[in-house]
Amino acid sequence: MGPVIILLGPPGAGKGTQARMLEEDFGLVQLSTGDLLRAAVAAGTEAGRKARAVMEAGQLVSDDIVLAILRDRMAQPDVARGIILDGFPRTAAQAAALDGLLAEAGGRVTAAISLEVEDEAMVTRVSGRYTCATCGEGYHDEFKQPATAGTCEKCGGTAFKRRADDNAETVRARLAAYHAETAPLIAHYDGLSVLERVPAMGSIEGIRASLADIVGRVSA
Ligand code: AP5
Repeated sequence: MGPVIILLGPPGAGKGTQARMLEEDFGLVQLSTGDLLRAAVAAGTEAGRKARAVMEAGQLVSDDIVLAILRDRMAQPDVARGIILDGFPRTAAQAAALDGLLAEAGGRVTAAISLEVEDEAMVTRVSGRYTCATCGEGYHDEFKQPATAGTCEKCGGTAFKRRADDNAETVRARLAAYHAETAPLIAHYDGLSVLERVPAMGSIEGIRASLADIVGRVSA
């Protein structure tokens, strides 16, 4: 299969924003476990019913539920083009399970990119976030507004939505979960010599260029 790029970083680091840009720039497929879980919640599946309260509290959903959802998505043929994992893996057990899934598909982790940011700024980034209700394009009250107010630049949609877990209190719980469970994966991927660290407090376009350099290099 094609390249497998992991985006690591706390809530608000820009994983979703940059994953969508890498999709456009390199034809890779974005796999966001957060988006897959929110779709399961909206659809009212058993997994979604179990995940809902956990997500709204800013805690991590159980590995069993997340892995079942990811395994289903990875069974679809488009992943052969190569994938950008956004928000997965988040625990040591998920990282180990990913290796097994990739081995079945004839792949391996090509790069794990750590987006390096400051926690306090993430509270502002996440609290101001909203997305187009039609196509999912991401915006921000302060940092990324559509060129024409109230109209999505990507699809022309005029309805927008905010996530239930995007409030300051829940963001702090999500940051704590990140540091306890997910940040140790940075050392794990460093040990496998696939880690790339990217300063991610700059502009969205500047970070996009840094990521494009890395993905171009490791995919060559
Ligand atoms: P998930 O949906 O993965 O959320 P998250 O990791 O908390 O990350 P976010 O989506 O909040 O941030 P992001 O890094 O994508 O930032 P974005 O690009 O949007 O997970 C949600 C929940 O689902 C978890 O809490 C957990 O319960 C559950 N879950 C998901 N995966 C799981 C797993 N594997 N295991 C267990 N549980 C799981 O950017 C944020 C905002 O900032 C946007 O408005 C954007 O426009 C703006 N912005 C982006 N970059 C910049 C920049 N450089 N400068 C200024 N503004 C910027």
